[in-house]
Amino acid sequence: MSLDIKNSFETRAIHSHYEADEHLGSLASPIYQTSTYVFKSVDEGAAYFSDEKAGYIYTRINNPTLSLLENRIASLEEGEAAIVFASGMGAITSSLWTLLNPGDELLVDLTVYGCTYAFFHQGLARFGVKVRHIDMSDPNNVVREITEQTKMIFFESPANPNMRLVDISAVSDIAHRQNILVAVDNTYCTPYIQKPLALGADIVLHSLTKYINGHGDAMGGAVITSAEYAKQIRLVGLKDMTGACLSPHDANLILRGMKTLSVRMDKIVQSAQKIAQYLEAHPQVESIMYPGLPSFEQYQLAKKQMKLAGGMIACELKGGLEAGKQFLNRLQLFSRAVSLGDCESLAQHPASMTHSTYTTEERKQYGISDGLVRLSIGLESADDLIADIKQALA
Ligand SMILES: Cc1ncc(COP(=O)(O)O)c(C=O)c1O
Repeated sequence: MSLDIKNSFETRAIHSHYEADEHLGSLASPIYQTSTYVFKSVDEGAAYFSDEKAGYIYTRINNPTLSLLENRIASLEEGEAAIVFASGMGAITSSLWTLLNPGDELLVDLTVYGCTYAFFHQGLARFGVKVRHIDMSDPNNVVREITEQTKMIFFESPANPNMRLVDISAVSDIAHRQNILVAVDNTYCTPYIQKPLALGADIVLHSLTKYINGHGDAMGGAVITSAEYAKQIRLVGLKDMTGACLSPHDANLILRGMKTLSVRMDKIVQSAQKIAQYLEAHPQVESIMYPGLPSFEQYQLAKKQMKLAGGMIACELKGGLEAGKQFLNRLQLFSRAVSLGDCESLAQHPASMTHSTYTTEERKQYGISDGLVRLSIGLESADDLIADIKQALA
């Protein structure tokens, strides 16, 4: 079945680009566990290398199991082409190393995932890319801050860990007036909840490690963009710069996880909404950031660009850092762990864990308070999760 936008999201997540194996009728897609491919002749190999003929050469460049995952994720994000990687960081580094050059400027929203922040400031900056953070929650700031050197705008929406949103279509409109690329990390939402390309972005990035796989047993990343950019990222960033290719086994686990993405997300969002409402009403909670609450600062924007409010909650307890630590230590059903989007509910403390790549000063400047607690709601019963939160807050 080819890329078929006429079919619903749920159907494409299961069927897109695969029909029962033509040789043996295998219902599940096969794992091509091979590093290399045999050419019938030197000329055939040469034709693959010179791009005269499409064919598999070496798994760092392409592999049928990875191709299926790429085609399927491109179908779900409604993009022209996708490439998968060994991790979300593999996707981000391979893509940005390819598309940015020394002298270019990268504009970034205030808050991004800690390792993305480290890559921008310790990786890209070291090779002459200027990285500047601006508050993109107001698109007028983007108009004001763009310079002649600005090549790309990068943001997460919602941002990890403080749930800031950026208006994807407004920022894309502004950027495109000056031929600037817009890259959106859509890990928190998945294409089931938000489709940045349809809203005008040029590049969508994912950690497949999170909701898309959804079972906490594989790492992966993806970029979805135009066929032209995808080709460049594959043949430069992936092949020659990072080599961050995904293992066919992990691709297969991710393909399996993706089949249930919509049902998992529906259940997770339902529970997250209930838990966010519980937390909001609790006297120990100082503030809560969840896009499904009418009190959320960017509630209207969330309704405009997200189909659902997602499964991530950020909150601050009264008593700040100490109270947050005690709360996390007392949780019994939530696991104290980084990562997100798994069947198991996870809780962590960004300032000492996922965002410890920022200095204390930088965290203050970029809106990551020391008392912030991040919850990733899983597939357990919402009532059991609330009971766990209740006992830990008590
Ligand atoms: C928003 C976001 N982007 C990218 C990444 C990096 O993904 P990975 O851990 O698969 O390299 C993460 C990891 O937590 C993330 O939360």
